[in-house]
Amino acid sequence: MNLYNIKHPEEQVNFAQAVRQGLGKDQGLFFPETIPTLTNIDELLALPLVERSQQILAALIGEEIPTETLNAMVKNAFTFPAPLAKVNDAIYALELFHGPTLAFKDFGGRFMAQALAAVRGEGKITILTATSGDTGAAVAHAFYGLENINVVILYPKGKISPLQEKLFCTLGGNIRTVAIESDFDACQALVKQAFDDEELRQAIGLNSANSINISRLLAQVCYYFEAVAQLPKEKRENVVVSVPSGNFGNLTAGLIAKTLGLPIKRFIASTNANDTVPRYLRSGQWEPNATVATLSNAMDVSRPNNWPRVEELFKRNGWNLADLGSDALNDAETEQALQAQNDEGYLCEPHGAIAYQVLKDQLQAGETGIFLCTAHPAKFKESVERILDIELPLPEALDKHNKLPLLSDVMENDFAKLRAYLLAK
Ligand SMILES: Cc1ncc(COP(=O)(O)O)c(C=O)c1O
Repeated sequence: MNLYNIKHPEEQVNFAQAVRQGLGKDQGLFFPETIPTLTNIDELLALPLVERSQQILAALIGEEIPTETLNAMVKNAFTFPAPLAKVNDAIYALELFHGPTLAFKDFGGRFMAQALAAVRGEGKITILTATSGDTGAAVAHAFYGLENINVVILYPKGKISPLQEKLFCTLGGNIRTVAIESDFDACQALVKQAFDDEELRQAIGLNSANSINISRLLAQVCYYFEAVAQLPKEKRENVVVSVPSGNFGNLTAGLIAKTLGLPIKRFIASTNANDTVPRYLRSGQWEPNATVATLSNAMDVSRPNNWPRVEELFKRNGWNLADLGSDALNDAETEQALQAQNDEGYLCEPHGAIAYQVLKDQLQAGETGIFLCTAHPAKFKESVERILDIELPLPEALDKHNKLPLLSDVMENDFAKLRAYLLAK
């Protein structure tokens, strides 16, 4: 697989380099030089998730990764289902929260961990990352148990929810968690300092499990096929998919699936009040506002870093951006959407509720709508319980970790201490 840097097309890399490097020159995103057209879509749709995903990823990545290796990577990463739940005759929910950390990030994160393990070459790797809660869990679970890869996760002591902390600080093994006596910004600054320290980087094989990594997006392509595969055959024409969007990685993956030939008529980008893209699609002006905090906080992004990949796909396919649906919901509208969904018999959380409502508003007669449910309702327990006036039991995956002891080390906000800690491990 050949990829180029969207900002500097002369910078070209293969899949292994793109996975190891994450970003290109000037923070440019890597993008596949070609995306094949699959001619056996119906056959693919008849396969189970893992087998189908092995074939899709083989078509995208090519011969660079031996078939046996790639098949094992997919099998190890996709160990949980992505069921399509019927909400009503026209609308379905693609549930992407049945993985170990109950969020769609489990697909991309677990595949990236497998990819990195396969292409890392000789020597050890240390993944160092800072988290304000959720990313830490996805990274920890994705890399847990992989040989020769150590993971160190920094988080602000006492400033993440006890449940979030339990989810990733109870694993042990190759996952080390450090509670820094400061805030999230300090954790991020420590990580940055570590990456600026060339000697340290070399000594421990420092790598970031960056969310911009191409391997994550490629993995996410697979669940769009899974959605269509679960639709009754007579509903596979005129499919519209609504994607709750923050950094627009999820939408990029959907557009790659369409480029491969998956029959999706159109996409809708659904956002919260951080509405740079819906405004841009209406006015043609790219005018990010200051980011505002919302109920759907994982989408509180006003400068979505995957947007250049979306534009690249539209340009290369000769598609028109005017055909990309979009809208933004504020918090009051999000609450109403969550209630409306619940009245229809489907329990969701704020991100999925936005995607559902915008889909409902824009779906036309004769179309079948799918919205993505990116997190388990219990991950947003407080908001969901308050808005719907219900009590949500903890799902087993969370409850299991909740009962285990915390294994974190505690450290002052001091780079010299962190450096010594990393070198000693
Ligand atoms: C629960 C949830 N929904 C939606 C999104 C938005 O996805 P993307 O950033 O790929 O647009 C995120 C991103 O972190 C998320 O955590």
